[in-house]
Amino acid sequence: MKRIVILASGSGSNAENIISFFKDDSRVHVSAVLTNKKNAAVLERCERLKVPAFYFNRTAFSDSDGVIQLLTSLNPDLIVLAGFLWKIPTSLLNVFPNNIINIHPALLPKYGGKGMYGSKVHQSVKDNADSETGITIHYVNQNYDEGAIIFQAKTKVAPSDDANSIAEKVHQLEYEHFPKVIEKLLLKDGD
Ligand code: GAR
Repeated sequence: MKRIVILASGSGSNAENIISFFKDDSRVHVSAVLTNKKNAAVLERCERLKVPAFYFNRTAFSDSDGVIQLLTSLNPDLIVLAGFLWKIPTSLLNVFPNNIINIHPALLPKYGGKGMYGSKVHQSVKDNADSETGITIHYVNQNYDEGAIIFQAKTKVAPSDDANSIAEKVHQLEYEHFPKVIEKLLLKDGD
């Protein structure tokens, strides 16, 4: 059985989609969701879906090994960042090398980096009148949005689209592809 731990800071619609995708899968299991936001909507989703959820603060994440200890005890095969907005400290990367992936709501290297998340990304796509955008799933390294790319998918942007409708198109791509990419990564060795 492969174990996934999800880190999420906000709504958690991707977290819910991943949990639902693997709900009846005997090979892959979402063990827990961790969040850095006390009131994140993802916590309500976890309660409803009966998935263990843990809150942690900045000290536990960056200034001590609290989160590392928690993650080590959960022993994940893959750590999935799904709308998680803090930079991953090197100490954590060192414990889980090549085992942390992120989804970004644009075609990296476009619109990545510190502060580029959610609607800010989609507004930039709109402001630049781009004719396409998409999603990038990538390994996490010590720089925001710069790790090796695993997968990208594109969608068209119409002149009539605004940041909200672009976000909607991008979310659809995320829901369609993110669980399948995770499944492929986890089961690539044939188990
Ligand atoms: C997703 O669109 C994800 O790609 C984005 O946050 C959203 C979270 O939505 N992540 C970033 O912008 C990271 N830089 P969700 O909480 O409903 O899954």
